[in-house]
Amino acid sequence: MEVIIQPTADAASHVAARIFARQIRTKPTSVLGLATGSTPLGLYRELVSMHERAALDFAKVTTFNLDEYVGLGPDHPQSYAHFMREHLFSKINIAPSGTRIPDGLTRDIAAHCADYEQAIRDAGGIDLQLLGLGTDGHIGFNEPSSSLGSRTRLKTLTERTIADNARFFSSPSEVPRHVITMGVGTIMEARHCVVLAFGEKKAGAVAATVEGPVTASVPSSALQLHARCTLIIDEGAAGALERADYYRWVYNNKPEWQRA
Ligand code: F6R
Repeated sequence: MEVIIQPTADAASHVAARIFARQIRTKPTSVLGLATGSTPLGLYRELVSMHERAALDFAKVTTFNLDEYVGLGPDHPQSYAHFMREHLFSKINIAPSGTRIPDGLTRDIAAHCADYEQAIRDAGGIDLQLLGLGTDGHIGFNEPSSSLGSRTRLKTLTERTIADNARFFSSPSEVPRHVITMGVGTIMEARHCVVLAFGEKKAGAVAATVEGPVTASVPSSALQLHARCTLIIDEGAAGALERADYYRWVYNNKPEWQRA
């Protein structure tokens, strides 16, 4: 796993934006996997700015979001469909038909999840997958003990994730207990994964992801087995890494052609 430590979350988001922009410019029909939550907001702001100022063209891009709350429709202000429209899709020239998010109101969750997996395959697979990191090491909403081979399915959130996400709702009791999420196995098939994590509260999860054992108890640790995974973090999130100095040294000594 490549670990890139930047001084601030803004600087880290900037590095991630360059990776996304290069992907889209190199392959205008790119298939992107997208995440929600606080972490990607800086990246989405940069992508919007690149679209407005540098003609970054999303017209032929396809996106698949990682997850959605069960029971929330696309117009619910806390739904991830609403989040994506508000922070990215309404501000770039992506075709609405090119954006896919699990349907939190589906009546047949199993069939919907199978369709979602098929749609990813039909699109040619995900070229570049964006991931945030839960404080418990979840990616998507694959909570600890999720099968590392899991596919898109229903998951029950942990109390910790419900508490973490309660800030978006008026009270913790309003946070849905269930989500539809891509599985760890689904995520692992993306050709390139970019993981972002910011702040001291993510430091433990970052260290377990990079330097801990590969275990279903920390689903993000499966990324150690991914052929191309780039973790971009700020100093706060790097605080518990044993080899932080080595990761900095590697990044500072990269051949120019390898730089993001
Ligand atoms: C969201 C998602 C989650 C978040 C994670 C971190 O689509 O898949 O894994 O990335 O819970 O959330 P924030 O960024 O709010 O700390």
